[in-house]
Amino acid sequence: MRAVLLIVLGLAIGIVGTVFAMNALNQRNPFPRAVMDVMAHHSGALRNAVKGQRCEAAANSEHLQRLLSTSSDIVPAFPGVDQGFIDEANQLHTRLQAAVHAAPADCAALAAALKPVGETCQSCHQKYR
Ligand code: HEC
Repeated sequence: MRAVLLIVLGLAIGIVGTVFAMNALNQRNPFPRAVMDVMAHHSGALRNAVKGQRCEAAANSEHLQRLLSTSSDIVPAFPGVDQGFIDEANQLHTRLQAAVHAAPADCAALAAALKPVGETCQSCHQKYR
């Protein structure tokens, strides 16, 4: 009898513990950081290309397109943000569209295309991060 009670008690504690752990995980929604990390990956790749002076049109275009499409996820990833935040996100989107259109084929063009993009990352981080 005592053994059965201990087993039941053990199960109950396990269930309560699992519920606590799941609540804690849910509170930390990974989406906002995931969006930022993906953008950091692609802008990092482009910055490294400039640093290493190896800028190929196809790779530039691929990374810029991925940045552009990921930037559309910023506002949905941060529900309840104010208009200023939305304006920053829209500005990033517009500047990335311009960078994609510029289709930089060498490092000088790539660096010029990235400058306004990087400024928007910084400006939003200064205000909202
Ligand atoms: C509209 C506002 C906004 C713009 C634009 C923006 N970010 Fe962020 N970023 C944030 C906020 C807010 C956080 C903090 C998120 C958090 O900690 O939950 C953040 C966090 C980050 C982080 C840290 C993520 C982590 O795992 O802790 C990185 C890296 C990052 N941003 C990269 C970028 C890059 C690169 C760009 C430009 C291509 C960019 N961000 C543009 C708002 C923005």
